[in-house]
Amino acid sequence: MRLKLLSTLLFAGTSLAAGSAMAAGELNLICAADVVICEQMKGDFEKAHDIKVNMVRMSSGEAYAKIRAEARNPKTDLWWAGTGDPHLQAASEGLTEEYKSPMLDQLQDWAKNQAESSGFKTVGVYAGALGWGYNTEIFKQKGYKEPVCWADLLAPELKGEIQIANPNSSGTAYTALASLVQIMGEDKAFEYLKSLNANISQYTKSGSAPVKAAARGETGLGIVFMHDAVAQTAEGFPVKSIAPCEGTGYEIGSMSIVKGARNMENAKTWYDWSLQPEVQSRMKDAKSFQLPSNKTAEIPKEAPRFEDIKLIDYDFKTYGDPEKRKVLLERWDREIGAVAN
Ligand code: G6P
Repeated sequence: MRLKLLSTLLFAGTSLAAGSAMAAGELNLICAADVVICEQMKGDFEKAHDIKVNMVRMSSGEAYAKIRAEARNPKTDLWWAGTGDPHLQAASEGLTEEYKSPMLDQLQDWAKNQAESSGFKTVGVYAGALGWGYNTEIFKQKGYKEPVCWADLLAPELKGEIQIANPNSSGTAYTALASLVQIMGEDKAFEYLKSLNANISQYTKSGSAPVKAAARGETGLGIVFMHDAVAQTAEGFPVKSIAPCEGTGYEIGSMSIVKGARNMENAKTWYDWSLQPEVQSRMKDAKSFQLPSNKTAEIPKEAPRFEDIKLIDYDFKTYGDPEKRKVLLERWDREIGAVAN
């Protein structure tokens, strides 16, 4: 009897020790999407695994800058979400690790292409088209015309009514810059941005902030990903989302493992887990209405569908290239940032 008790206690002790050893596992994560989905992903992952997630939320350009600054002594293991261009830039600068997830075959072509074109150093987790959201009450009260084309955003009556993020920190704003360059040509796009500057009240740090401000009536319109505008409508705000008539670009939200990650196995565990259909189907619960990369994940009914939007054939390779990003961002700083209000 005594012996049995002793062995039971011993067994319990061993499994407890094993449990706490596993729980001591950690994952240092940069999450470059909205804070609500970041918190949900962290919580769901921790429930399913014995790994503690230390998460910081950042915008895409900031995440890239942090990973680059830490290159000699990486503190981050995994970079989840945010627009694909800075992930591609990090891949071509050798800052991220090659990984062929067993989940790759379950993904949409655009997500797999992102992996193949980067030598498997990044992968697509979601996609979403760029557009804007405007506050229908403000527009009605002030008698503004509904802006359905990029050209409409230059209307003098919209002076001080528009917000967009700064493309240095925000992947959303970089997608806007690169999309306009692809639609109009570089010089015309910068002329357009200079004219648009007259209507901009603020260049925010985070990409989705402009439409949150529009939802709360602090500004009339925010240039953002359409799913971020739809999220505000779903929250009950008077926001209408628009797909620009001339055409628009889109993001392939991506994920990369940092080269030399200290918690490499845990990073791979998150990587494979976050590509599962059940995990991606739950993103809508955080009002994250992107198109999921797993083919069998549920597409939220609120998600703006690519079939309904005039999309350009966005050249991810060129606009995710370090040299191209540098040239465009420096020109933006000189010609737009320096003269911004
Ligand atoms: C929002 C969107 C994401 C996008 C991200 C980029 O969170 O929902 O789809 O990837 O913005 O953020 P950033 O601040 O870099 O523009």
